Amino acid sequence: MNLENPDRTIVLIGLMGVGKSTIGRRLALRLGLGFVDADEEIERAAGRTVSEIFESFGEAAFRDGERKVIARLIEGPAQVIATGGGAFIDAETRRLILERSISIWLDADIDVLVERTARRDTRPLLKSGDPRSILVRLWQERSPQYAKADLHIKSSDGPHEQVVDQIVKALQ
Ligand code: S3P
Repeated sequence: MNLENPDRTIVLIGLMGVGKSTIGRRLALRLGLGFVDADEEIERAAGRTVSEIFESFGEAAFRDGERKVIARLIEGPAQVIATGGGAFIDAETRRLILERSISIWLDADIDVLVERTARRDTRPLLKSGDPRSILVRLWQERSPQYAKADLHIKSSDGPHEQVVDQIVKALQ
């Protein structure tokens, strides 16, 4: 990709807690692109938080909204989009992302994901049991799909800026 003049949308995918939003914001700044967080867009469109959507309407309804919001975002000008961890698991959303963007799977050690997701109580999927076991199971179930992304970036527990460096290098 021409990093002086990036003309393709970049979509960050990967499990909860991997840093998609924070890294996405920094990557967008670095590339001179806009940034959007798909979960925030869903919340704005629904006038409810992700947890409230799960509670009131269920996961399937959330995935419908997520699919529509990501389809709209991906039609727009080139930008960096951080998606929720399950977005890429939906076949239609995945097809759109693969067709219309450069997709990047952000991946990290399970300990990092456990520690980061424990900081905020906003993830309905982690409330039904032990968060570590749920994250391990989701990693096992989802990684074959995540592996279809254009790039796979393994972040250490190092500073986010280092991960941004890794991504920029991989995009060159
Ligand atoms: C989900 C991840 C969340 C959010 C929702 C479902 C998932 O986003 O979309 O709670 O299925 O992994 P983050 O990955 O930003 O936490």
